[in-house]
Amino acid sequence: MTHSWRGHRADGTRRGHRRRVTSDGSTTVGPGRSADRAAERVDLVPAELGPGIYPLLNSIVLPRPIAWVSTRSHDGHDNVAPHSYFTVASVAPPVVCFTSVGEKDTLRNIRETGEFVVNVTSRSLLQQVNGSSTNFPPERSEFDDVGLTRQPSELVTPSRVAESPVAIECRLAGERSFGASTVVFGEVLHIAVSPEVMRDGEVRPELLDPIARLGGSLYSALGDLIEVDRIRFSDWEAGQR
Ligand SMILES: Cc1cc2nc3c(=O)[nH]c(=O)nc-3n(C[C@H](O)[C@H](O)[C@H](O)COP(=O)(O)O)c2cc1C
Repeated sequence: MTHSWRGHRADGTRRGHRRRVTSDGSTTVGPGRSADRAAERVDLVPAELGPGIYPLLNSIVLPRPIAWVSTRSHDGHDNVAPHSYFTVASVAPPVVCFTSVGEKDTLRNIRETGEFVVNVTSRSLLQQVNGSSTNFPPERSEFDDVGLTRQPSELVTPSRVAESPVAIECRLAGERSFGASTVVFGEVLHIAVSPEVMRDGEVRPELLDPIARLGGSLYSALGDLIEVDRIRFSDWEAGQR
């Protein structure tokens, strides 16, 4: 398969050639290309990509942590679904956010009750995380179909996923829609951590062993841990670079 995109310069003007990207990832460039190969880019224009922007963003913005969001509908149906458009939005007050692409059971339940729990997804839970993304009807609980244990939350009505090592209990703090996508903000009311992922009072990444979402059906685990200390300006000026 070969894709072809119109070439643009960084200043927005168009080049007189088309760049071709082949399925093995190599690129070839048509006539008129300059010698500055290192400065060349394949320019992708969202308006021209249409729905192709979705898999493209998923394959670029990665690895993405997964919020395994548990909710309860107003009539008592428990729901769990993974959302990898997820991050910390604010520290004080503590707020996390995730994005629902379209209106799904999760978003509907949160709008009904104003509460949700973000459960952290360890590697050992991957098959259940994936199973819970199946589009079950609203009255069928992923807890039961996927084989997850309901654990009462401390401050909110939706259950935690007992198998997950960390539960972040949230109260709806607002939402913001862009087209069919809705960013849901949740004020963090309570965090429950399994001692199994803690050492010396800290949550250790290698014990948490989170699974992350890449593009398509790919996932990744942590890989190598790399420690780099930040440099204060005074140390920078003193030559520590
Ligand atoms: C790992 C993973 C990450 C996902 N991330 C998102 C996401 O960020 N936003 C979204 O709308 N759907 C996402 N999905 C798809 C939803 O989980 C899926 O549509 C699910 O059926 C929604 O369930 P619900 O209707 O019970 O809320 C993801 C699926 C998987 C497997």
